[in-house]
Amino acid sequence: EKGGYDHFMLKEIYEQPRAIHDTYRGRLLADEGYIRMSGIDHNIERFLNANRIIIVACGTSWHAGLVAEYIFEDLARIPVEVEYASEFRYRNPVITEKDILIAVSQSGETADTLAAIKMAKEKGAFVFGVCNVVGSSIARETHAGAYTHAGPEIGVASTKAFTTQITVLTMIALKLAKEKGEFSQSKYHEFLTELEGIPQKVEKALKSNDLVEKIAEVYKDSTNCLYLGRGYNFPVALEGALKLKEISYIHAEGYPAAEMKHGPIALIDEEMPVVVIATRKGHYEKVVSNIQEIKSRSGKIIAIVTEGDETVKDIADHVVEVPESSEALTPLLTTIPLQLLSYHIALMRGCNVDQPRNLAKSVTVE
Ligand code: F6R
Repeated sequence: EKGGYDHFMLKEIYEQPRAIHDTYRGRLLADEGYIRMSGIDHNIERFLNANRIIIVACGTSWHAGLVAEYIFEDLARIPVEVEYASEFRYRNPVITEKDILIAVSQSGETADTLAAIKMAKEKGAFVFGVCNVVGSSIARETHAGAYTHAGPEIGVASTKAFTTQITVLTMIALKLAKEKGEFSQSKYHEFLTELEGIPQKVEKALKSNDLVEKIAEVYKDSTNCLYLGRGYNFPVALEGALKLKEISYIHAEGYPAAEMKHGPIALIDEEMPVVVIATRKGHYEKVVSNIQEIKSRSGKIIAIVTEGDETVKDIADHVVEVPESSEALTPLLTTIPLQLLSYHIALMRGCNVDQPRNLAKSVTVE
């Protein structure tokens, strides 16, 4: 059942090229320059006339929502808010009939997300679901939706759900960007072709496994770890930190790299590993100077870089390469080594990777 892997989590990490492919199969028609998603197609006017999109979710799905915020605003120029479902439902939010709520949930059973949907519906918003489990409560409660088609996710730590949620949300953003006239047909075509090539790039990113395992050996006894990223990769930093804390029980925090100097830099000493996402496209020079600031305070740097990077290699203690891609698609690649890092560290610490203490796969109580 684990397909020859020691754990479901590792199997699911390695399934990502296929899972992402299954997510866009039949929807992304790169040759024809078209994205077909019936849940969007049938409601296109609603999306094009929306005042804003509110994304609600919890945990890893909330991180996918944060990535989507960058994509929707950057490419489709639609205002987006991303909310923890638990906060949103209890703070008497302003919701109108011109708002669209997108609920993101792997299980489709998360109690807070479900309650947020019900509230938004009562206030007249249109509710769209991005779920993995077919026929789940959230899938049934929403007006329309798009499944991720990632296949069953058994490991409690969410991996392929995250990348496939980002894939669905990216397709929606691209489609809306095109419909709104933000893209020329040729630029659109270029993006679709690039998205189509992501599974092969994820496959390549997975080849970092042995190197990441060696890095895990060095830091497995750490008590703290920081994750930094900017732009599209800030949510990836949050997700990397969540993965590490939930399965290895090491305290980890994700930060936007530029926030370091507003507090967390005080934590840096030679005992502190800092994972920095420093891909070429997206604030590269600024991230490099953030890395230098950490290095000059003796922090240990594990950098996720674009293939062939030379600059960061000279400063960082370890570099892990991922294939080049446009900035909007980097989260699908930079996430991979972070998933592997948490997996190996947890394993070396003797933790139950698939069933971490105190956690359940779906949180059906608030
Ligand atoms: C993290 C994790 C949780 C879930 C969260 C939402 O690895 O698994 O943070 O992401 O409980 O669950 P869903 O997506 O099922 O609503």
